[in-house]
Amino acid sequence: MKILIINGPNINFLGIREKSIYGNTTYKKMCEYLEEEAKKSEININIVQSNVEGELVDYIQNAYGKYDGIIINPAAYTHYSIAILDALKAVGIPAVEVHISNVHSREEFRKKSVTVPACIGQISGFGIYGYVMAMKGLINYNSGV
Ligand code: DQA
Repeated sequence: MKILIINGPNINFLGIREKSIYGNTTYKKMCEYLEEEAKKSEININIVQSNVEGELVDYIQNAYGKYDGIIINPAAYTHYSIAILDALKAVGIPAVEVHISNVHSREEFRKKSVTVPACIGQISGFGIYGYVMAMKGLINYNSGV
């Protein structure tokens, strides 16, 4: 099974930005951790990040025909990117939306996700472990159970 993990704006600043909300783990360390977890689950992952909306759309489009699942943290774009919603709908690859923080316990504007309707579901508030939960969720989804 091949999963593409897509991270949106400012996720590359993990370990630097608002540590009380997003934790101390750096983006590089998180990627290493996710690679290890993917190995344990015997799946292949590829992790990408961009601060640019159109590049995120390109990553989603380029996944077409190549990946069995997408894990996406669209970051701030979650709350207003119709382009990302449309791209996820266009490729039709099973996707899980992940948020490191609990977006439902923060500002009002973070409670609304315009991208999640194109996903199987959303994981929010479990820190970087949320990406591992999403991997397991996609593996289970793929198994048809
Ligand atoms: C985030 C939550 C978003 O509201 C925010 O804009 C982010 C990160 C999260 O992972 O908790 O940049 O997606």
